[in-house]
Amino acid sequence: MNSVGNILEQIRSDAMESLASASDEKSIQDLQTRFLGRKGSLTRFLRNISDLPKDQRPEAGKSANILKNKLENAFQDAIKTIQQKNLAQESGLDITLPGRPIFSGSKHPLTLMNQEICDVFTRLGFEIVEGPEVELDYYNFEALNIPKDHPARDMQDTFYISDNVVLRTHTSPLQIRTMEKCKPPVRIIAPGKVYRCDSDITHTPMFQQIEGLMVDENIHFGHLKGILTTLVHQIFDDHTSLRFRPSFFPFTEPSAEIDMQCVMCRGNGCRVCSQTGWLEILGAGMVHPAVFENVQYDTDKYTGFAFGMGIERIAMLKYGIDDIRKFYDNDIRFLNQF
Ligand code: FA5
Repeated sequence: MNSVGNILEQIRSDAMESLASASDEKSIQDLQTRFLGRKGSLTRFLRNISDLPKDQRPEAGKSANILKNKLENAFQDAIKTIQQKNLAQESGLDITLPGRPIFSGSKHPLTLMNQEICDVFTRLGFEIVEGPEVELDYYNFEALNIPKDHPARDMQDTFYISDNVVLRTHTSPLQIRTMEKCKPPVRIIAPGKVYRCDSDITHTPMFQQIEGLMVDENIHFGHLKGILTTLVHQIFDDHTSLRFRPSFFPFTEPSAEIDMQCVMCRGNGCRVCSQTGWLEILGAGMVHPAVFENVQYDTDKYTGFAFGMGIERIAMLKYGIDDIRKFYDNDIRFLNQF
């Protein structure tokens, strides 16, 4: 090592040894002044570089600046450590303890299912609309051709807020709310929560539906069948069977209930499908002319189909879940799997 090197090494070792024995902020600041201050040893060295032989100056300047940076960082780090220690002592905090793990959340399986279904429909040109969960009796029942004394009201055990206000029992009120606002052609889906007094392994008191409505000239049952088959084939696979069963809804004529082959037992019968091999996933039909009249649509010109599907039922089949209530237990071990 040449003499320049010796001097710098001497400054470095002095500084580091003194730093090792400095125990408070004030003594570190004093060291900073002693080595890096205006009259500090390293500052003096830098100032006197011009006195060195010309060929030694560049190397000396470079080495001295590297040392200056090193010492600045070492002093700063030492001050920070002391400040943290003081803070820990004052607050009674033990900074040597390992940190608490931060759990990252993930999307709920029903949110995933909802998004997947909505994506299929938006690709087919359907627009997404939303409406209130606390609904007027008029939209939930009356405008859908279910008058106050109609026996069809027995089909759905309703949570009444008052005589004229209910927690909506299905997403079908969105058919009326949409048609009141828009002239045909209409092509919407309406996802949302609905409420019924119902609870067992395939029923929960709050569940989610997606309503669908398509109205235009010359819409027929074949369109409904095509759209629903496309949906099921996209969500499951091309071999998944659907079964259309004649049914009754006051707001559609003809009406159907649509079952999907149970993927839990491949149609052989199990607890989830009540040993039938099929699980009902939605109700559907051609919009009843009385509904069109309630929203002043020309029944000679327009026809349409509507459907309402239960998202939990589809998610149960998609993810192989045998009890609908698991979606709402908030068990992290269950939710973590999605
Ligand atoms: C209706 O709610 C009709 N609004 C559907 C409809 C819309 C028919 C448009 C015609 C035209 P339903 O009560 O069958 O129909 O319910 C539809 C679907 O919701 C069912 O097929 C089922 O998948 C699901 N569902 C019904 N009750 C529950 C419940 N308590 N828990 C979970 N899912 C349910």
